[in-house]
Amino acid sequence: MSSGSRLGVRDLPPGAVAAAPARYGTFTAFAEQLPADALVLADRRVLRLHPVVRRALRGHRVIALAAGEATKQLATVQRLAQATLDVPRGAPLLALGGGTIGDLATVYAHLHKRGLRLVHCPTTLLAAVDSSVGGKGAVNVAGVKNALGVFHDAAATWLCAELFATLSESQHREGRLEAWKVALTDARTFAAWTKAPPADLDLLRTARALKAALVRRDPYERRGVRVLLNFGHTFGHVLEGLTAYRLRHGLAVGLGMLCALDVGRAVGVTPRPVAAAVETALPNGNAARRRLARAFAGADAAALTRLLRADKKGHDRGAVNMVLLRRPGALVVRAVPLRRLLRLLPAWREARTP
Ligand SMILES: NC(=O)c1ccc[n+]([C@@H]2O[C@H](COP(=O)([O-])OP(=O)(O)OC[C@H]3O[C@@H](n4cnc5c(N)ncnc54)[C@H](O)[C@@H]3O)[C@@H](O)[C@H]2O)c1
Repeated sequence: MSSGSRLGVRDLPPGAVAAAPARYGTFTAFAEQLPADALVLADRRVLRLHPVVRRALRGHRVIALAAGEATKQLATVQRLAQATLDVPRGAPLLALGGGTIGDLATVYAHLHKRGLRLVHCPTTLLAAVDSSVGGKGAVNVAGVKNALGVFHDAAATWLCAELFATLSESQHREGRLEAWKVALTDARTFAAWTKAPPADLDLLRTARALKAALVRRDPYERRGVRVLLNFGHTFGHVLEGLTAYRLRHGLAVGLGMLCALDVGRAVGVTPRPVAAAVETALPNGNAARRRLARAFAGADAAALTRLLRADKKGHDRGAVNMVLLRRPGALVVRAVPLRRLLRLLPAWREARTP
């Protein structure tokens, strides 16, 4: 928690210094190190499911929130700010929850009196694999995913595997899908995982290490490196928007990766055998194409266009910048004309590979 002074950057605000490597242990042991003045933003469901967590946090100031995209709003940040005006700048803030609590806490930590010292304790596999690495936080605006966001690094990250015991199989799959997305940035990892899919804890360690290495090369997404982690996200976010977030983030990204493979083939970036091998390897489950068709069922070209235009990677003269796959370990950003994307819609709606 004192990484700033250790690195001789005492003058930088909280969140400006990348976290020390994550530590693995039990929540009870970590909570003993939590300063008395720490504020805790906790997923209400996690508090309910884990009596050990409730016990360990006794005596601390805990604000319980419902997880979900509906909570990831500026209005929630505003309510939090109003309820915590007494919390001084630089106080520790523990974000205990999945990616939605983590993203919200990151924005709040960045804005509250210009900086709280954020500690992540991700409680979903997805958050542990992905969202708690790299310092990004965001809230949604008018159905557009992550439209307002910040970079604010955590001062510490606690990984408590016992908290994952209450996740459903589908939640585990969401984490695995995000981890496979990261694995696609590294040919050796992808090949190794295809041969022998790793157990969740191995997958977690490897995916975090790969993502952290990419983030170090491009912490603020300005050098064309970090953006590659958005593979599957252009359509992932569209699918979340079209289904009003009923399709959960990790599953949406999983289907978004199928869309990105289809787009890659259509514009001649992804060779057919590569697309087929990756589609087989991704843990999307058997009915993935049918689920994709259901998610696109109500979509018309206008809704799709609005959501695609809101994509953060930008668009230009009717083209959307998308991350596409040449082969595992080689991703590229390409401007794809909107009309090319819209042409794929009928096949997606009929659960066909275009
Ligand atoms: N900042 C980033 O770099 C980044 C990266 C990837 C994803 N994200 C964001 O993360 C969010 C998705 O995260 P998520 O899937 O963790 O969603 P989430 O936080 O909404 O959690 C999903 C569900 O799991 C429940 N839950 C949490 N921990 C649990 C536990 N231990 N046992 C049982 N249930 C538990 C929650 O209450 C919720 O119902 C999205 O908003 C996405 O945009 C951010």
